[in-house]
Amino acid sequence: MQSQTHVLDHSPKGAAPDWTVPQDWAHYTPEEHATWDTLFARQAKLLPGRASEAYLRGLDVLKLSKPGIPDFAELSDRLMKLTGWQVVAVPGLVPDDVFFDHMANRRFVAGNFIRRPDQLDYLEEPDVFHDVFGHVPMLADPVFADYLAAYGRGGLRALDLGALKQLSRLYWYTVEFGLIQEPEGLRIYGSGIVSSFSESKFALDDPSPNRIAFDMKRVMQTDYRIDDFQQTYFVIDSFDDLLRQTVETDFAPLYDEILGKPDITVETVLPGDTVITRGTQYYARSKLAG
Ligand SMILES: [Fe+2]
Repeated sequence: MQSQTHVLDHSPKGAAPDWTVPQDWAHYTPEEHATWDTLFARQAKLLPGRASEAYLRGLDVLKLSKPGIPDFAELSDRLMKLTGWQVVAVPGLVPDDVFFDHMANRRFVAGNFIRRPDQLDYLEEPDVFHDVFGHVPMLADPVFADYLAAYGRGGLRALDLGALKQLSRLYWYTVEFGLIQEPEGLRIYGSGIVSSFSESKFALDDPSPNRIAFDMKRVMQTDYRIDDFQQTYFVIDSFDDLLRQTVETDFAPLYDEILGKPDITVETVLPGDTVITRGTQYYARSKLAG
């Protein structure tokens, strides 16, 4: 996930001006590779029938089932041939302009550290498992690959237009926490869900969250949760449609229209929403009560 703005205006020691660092694959310990393998095995078993076809295909064609933390050079070779994307390592979160510039140029920035064995289920900063297992399979899909590059270009424009908060919600509710309606049923494709054991189940099966048909303007007005499961998920019809809307929308007048309006809270269902599931919000309420 990438949602913070940073005060540092220069790359950290040891990093290039574009903030990239060598992945230094040889430095991973056997324990770190084992953590990847544990997380991989758990998700690979859970995701068939839950993750979107495009995601599962990406996992397969990129040969991510090979044991151990993937070598970014090897991964980038495969990805480059498929969609022109590469995976580059960064030490942690990077400034927004750097993040968007990489993305617009088809470089996906990935954290090169892996979580500790006692953090299998939760960590705040995106590690190599979230970034590579969660995000990279979708980059093997040509349409999604174009969508993410278009998002990067849109990010650079949003910075100029003072609408970063609005645009980042589009990223959050698609790239990180998106659902898609497929012929066989609802499927997950957001990286924050596919890389999480508990949310992979919650997002599809739990009666608590709302599941609402994707609407670009509505999404960009909606708050999100960074500390727990989402209270609302947005469902796209297809990646083609998501890409088409993103490249065809004139964002500047849309930002003008929504910038002065109050945000829509995380649990709200509006009269104009196309509701797929109206959530009970039981999970979020029981947490508050507890
Ligand atoms: Fe992410």
